[in-house]
Amino acid sequence: MTPTATSTLRNEHEAILKMLDATDEVAKQIECGSVPEPEILSGLLEFLRLFADRCHHGKEEDLLFPMLEKKGLPRQGGPIAVMLMEHDQGRALIRKMAEAAEAFAAGDAIAAKRWAAPAQGYTQLLRSHIDKENNILFVMAEQLLSDAEQSELSVAFEKVELEKMGAGTHERLHKLMDSLCSRIFSEAQTNKVSSQIHDGFGVRPA
Ligand SMILES: [Fe+2]
Ligand SMILES: [Fe+2]
Repeated sequence: MTPTATSTLRNEHEAILKMLDATDEVAKQIECGSVPEPEILSGLLEFLRLFADRCHHGKEEDLLFPMLEKKGLPRQGGPIAVMLMEHDQGRALIRKMAEAAEAFAAGDAIAAKRWAAPAQGYTQLLRSHIDKENNILFVMAEQLLSDAEQSELSVAFEKVELEKMGAGTHERLHKLMDSLCSRIFSEAQTNKVSSQIHDGFGVRPA
């Protein structure tokens, strides 16, 4: 059975949440003095720009929200207005992350620290945004939309994947997510083990 449009968006939230965890981990490592590989910062940005913003927020803004407006949810002053405002706030934070990541890739070593603050602002914003969509807006959508309207949206989402994103892009971004997560979290694990070894040596009797 084809998943409903709102369940597709909920699944995309899970992928975005995974990358928010990865983004937080990199920000934490930078704050602890680690120097990230430039391609980690650019890879995270590519995923957040293309998957989270262009594709996922695009489906919400261009397709789901207009359909909810047709069903009587106002665009101004209600949950749709809040969601649109938060998408814009996210874009402003992504721009700041991109400026810092570009400066870092060009050799400005301390620019990584300038990346960490907007990155943490972004993860906080998006987690709360996703929570509101999952538990308020999508619940309203699931009550308002008929099965036929959910199917109509699903077909339109497929079109976005093919025409706006390009065939194969979704799969490529999922592979990017998997490879970034395994690099970032294996680095975190290595740091944890090495600090445990350090601590162990610290308490070992002479
Ligand atoms: Fe959204
Ligand atoms: Fe969303």
